[in-house]
Amino acid sequence: MPPQHKHLEALIACAAKAPNAEAIRLDPFQLIAFEHALQERLCDLLEAIADALPNQVTRESAEAAATTLRTYFPAHLRLENEILFPALAAPCRADRSVREAINLSRAEHDADEASALELAEALANRDEEGRYRAAEALGYLLRSFFESQRRHIAWEETVVFPMARSCFTPAAKADLASALLRHRMRCECLPLVSLLTPKKPCDGKCAECADKPASAIA
Ligand SMILES: [Fe+2]
Ligand SMILES: [Fe+2]
Repeated sequence: MPPQHKHLEALIACAAKAPNAEAIRLDPFQLIAFEHALQERLCDLLEAIADALPNQVTRESAEAAATTLRTYFPAHLRLENEILFPALAAPCRADRSVREAINLSRAEHDADEASALELAEALANRDEEGRYRAAEALGYLLRSFFESQRRHIAWEETVVFPMARSCFTPAAKADLASALLRHRMRCECLPLVSLLTPKKPCDGKCAECADKPASAIA
């Protein structure tokens, strides 16, 4: 199987394993670990796309990567900036190294969001034959994005969250789980797995068709 297909399948398979509310209540950090695993699969797909430039990038890979960069990626940054970091700041207030680690992550997020949107735009910019005219510039954008994301995830997973976990009381953990679940309920976007999974042609038996008169179903 070509590397792009393999990594696209791995991204979709990972997106399908989002933890449910019960798992998040048990350990709120599971949601962050899931989102980081998803980001790692995205980085693998971006690397396979970079290796396939300029002529071998498939439409499915480019579209899935662009969709993930436009939807899931900024949502992850918001979840960390608006929910997770404020929640960590309270129980870890006395710990200067945690505060500094959070500030560094936040500063990187500002640059990362702009880079993700620029990359999504560049991935969509293909000619009719599916080739990229500015392949060298796109290759540079792809490589700098996935390399910096892998480093950022490793930094959060090995430094920020272990430090933060150590100053979390069971009550602070329960508060974080509730905040993450409220944030999820407010989020109006579809789960990433539905955005990435190609829609099958309707056979007239789906829930939407069941509500329509037979004459209205093409
Ligand atoms: Fe982050
Ligand atoms: Fe993160």
